[in-house]
Amino acid sequence: MTTGCFEYQDGALHCEQVPAEELAAGHGTPLYVYSRQALLSNLEALRSAFAPLDPRICFSLKSCQNLHLLRLLAGHGCGFDVVSGGELQRALEAGADPRQIVFAGVGKTDHEIRAALAAGVGLLNVESLSELEVLAGLARETGTQAHAALRINPDVDAHTHAYTTTGTRENKFGVDMHHVRQVFARAAELPAVCLRGLHVHIGSPITQVASFRDAIAQVLAIRDTLQRDGFTIDTLDLGGGLPAQYGDHPHPPLQEFADAVCGPLREAGVETVLEPGRVIAATAGLLLTRVLHVKRNGSRVFVVTDASMNELLRPALYQAYHFIWPVRAGKRVPQSQSADQPWPDLVPTDVVGPICETTDFLARGRPLPPLERGDLLAVFATGAYSMTMASQYNSRPRAAEVLVAGRRQQRIRRRETYDDLVAAERDLPEMEP
Ligand code: LLP
Repeated sequence: MTTGCFEYQDGALHCEQVPAEELAAGHGTPLYVYSRQALLSNLEALRSAFAPLDPRICFSLKSCQNLHLLRLLAGHGCGFDVVSGGELQRALEAGADPRQIVFAGVGKTDHEIRAALAAGVGLLNVESLSELEVLAGLARETGTQAHAALRINPDVDAHTHAYTTTGTRENKFGVDMHHVRQVFARAAELPAVCLRGLHVHIGSPITQVASFRDAIAQVLAIRDTLQRDGFTIDTLDLGGGLPAQYGDHPHPPLQEFADAVCGPLREAGVETVLEPGRVIAATAGLLLTRVLHVKRNGSRVFVVTDASMNELLRPALYQAYHFIWPVRAGKRVPQSQSADQPWPDLVPTDVVGPICETTDFLARGRPLPPLERGDLLAVFATGAYSMTMASQYNSRPRAAEVLVAGRRQQRIRRRETYDDLVAAERDLPEMEP
């Protein structure tokens, strides 16, 4: 199977050199497992695809935020894309150079903006005229000058799930193309803000190269207009959204996305920033889960696992596909991560969690080998938007995370406890009756 660092050896799944069964036995399930090598080689692949631009790579924390993984990425030259005070704190704690941090987000609070200015973040991505005014006010108040980019809304469809489309005109993100010049004109009157960048992010994952190319073409066109107006634009932040291999649909190779934009961007002679998340982290992680029960209701076979929408919300939220397969596959070692596997005895299976919601599923009608209580399953490509979107719904503590490098393994987040669940409510006085 071509998963790189997650491979079946003698019919049993390994993460690098460590058997997945050993990880589950040592750390319990559900368990997020990351491969160091996969993370770093995904970063390297991105860097080499976009090499002609030598972009600043600001890894998007919203996809994967574990401090240990962030330190690893910072150590390999990554800056970070953050969207909240909490993410900013994580990035700084991971040792990021503040100048390599971009702070994006449609609704930053004054408190968050102050924290970003105090830290000296490299770029604040402004999403409205209102936000520009607030930023200028806070920068003036704190005696700083904010380096900013304006997020434009290019009205380009990313052709992804409606819930992850951000760049069409009716979306809340960015500034309508018709208002961009007005915002720059206002910024010119505000010495506390140095607005010299443009930012675009049309959604994720972007499945068609043409959408990416169109969005960048819009950025370059508006840059020309602004330059003609006399403004200097020296930074273009291309956002994130580059796809990862989830196994349901093949996506165009990364190089095609890069080739589509590198030429015109190089010609423009600007500094480029990328905000990748999933393309680096998704395939660097998987989720291990134990089968609790197998049952039949009506015509359906349900495999109830100890992982749920708590650990992986994407199927419930976006009907997202994640390949799932037994850790002990024996002779049935999958040849790809698609649902099309060649064995005739596979059973259409609903893989569901213990949460009291019908939408709590990891897969529906998925052809899987017959399973029984105690079997261990791997849910692939869960390195991005899995742990970061985890919740404690139904008062279920969040799962542990472990990092593997060769034969070594290290727990990088302990499993939460029942005490963790109530800690923020304890020791507060009872309300008078
Ligand atoms: N930059 C901005 C401004 C973003 O909004 C996002 C993602 C990224 C970068 C990183 O995108 P990536 O390279 O990871 O695709 N939770 C969803 C996706 C929503 C992403 C929101 N913004 C998921 O599970 O697929």
